Amino acid sequence: MTDPQAAAAQANLKKVRTRHFQSAKENGIKITGLTSYDMLTASIFDEAGIDFLLVGDSAGNTVLGYETTLPVTVEDLIPLTRAVAGAATRAFVIADMPFGSYESSPEDALHTAFRFMKETHAHAVKLEGGVRSAEQIRRVVSAGIPVMGHIGYTPQSEHGLGGHIIQGRGGQVEQLLADAHAVEDAGAFAVVLEMVPASAAAQVTAELRIPTIGVGAGPHVDGQLLVWTDWAGFTGGRIPKFVKQYADLRGVLADAVAAYRTDVADGSYPAPEHSYND
Ligand code: KIV
Repeated sequence: MTDPQAAAAQANLKKVRTRHFQSAKENGIKITGLTSYDMLTASIFDEAGIDFLLVGDSAGNTVLGYETTLPVTVEDLIPLTRAVAGAATRAFVIADMPFGSYESSPEDALHTAFRFMKETHAHAVKLEGGVRSAEQIRRVVSAGIPVMGHIGYTPQSEHGLGGHIIQGRGGQVEQLLADAHAVEDAGAFAVVLEMVPASAAAQVTAELRIPTIGVGAGPHVDGQLLVWTDWAGFTGGRIPKFVKQYADLRGVLADAVAAYRTDVADGSYPAPEHSYND
């Protein structure tokens, strides 16, 4: 049950901190997150009261035009994260650690996390993997850097997982639980559950002390996260079943650009009010 006083306090926070993720879970308040890759969307989402902004390596798909997140580098994400962190005043900003920037060793993970914290002013980092990434999480957390875990479907392992496949079905729920506990025991402040059945996500959420953030994990989690371009109807082509589209930004822009083209072609833009006098 949500405590209304706690919900009001959460909404009125001047700045979201890791402890507010924990208190939200304890008080049954749902946490909201969106991805962001630039200062304009970051400022809009921040003003609207979105609790956290993830500068995801989904930027590979949404900004850089790659088919997967695998080619994304730390250098790609640093300027995007800096822009988002600079624009957010209330929201907690999380930098995603890209493929190849943390897996080799805990020291590698710490080195990358230091770069994000120093060069972007993000408040935390996220990395993929449960049991396999526990030592990396532990090392980064031991240096005072909050870590968000990410288990279930982990896009950086798309090829290893054999494609864009729902995780934690049937017998795999044991692996999902083991990953969730490994992330919590290593000191993460929250964990993303991506593309897992709602029942498995509910089980993980009930067992963990830290909040679970669902991306295609059903309603029985402590918060929700979506890729903003999918959520706003900006992405072209197929979007995942779990996404609810809250706008048709692609349609709005397509109409606007068609009107602009027509106006330029027929000479109605620029009109006198758009022109300078001597
Ligand atoms: O990169 C990203 O946007 C993500 C979320 C979809 C969890 O990792």
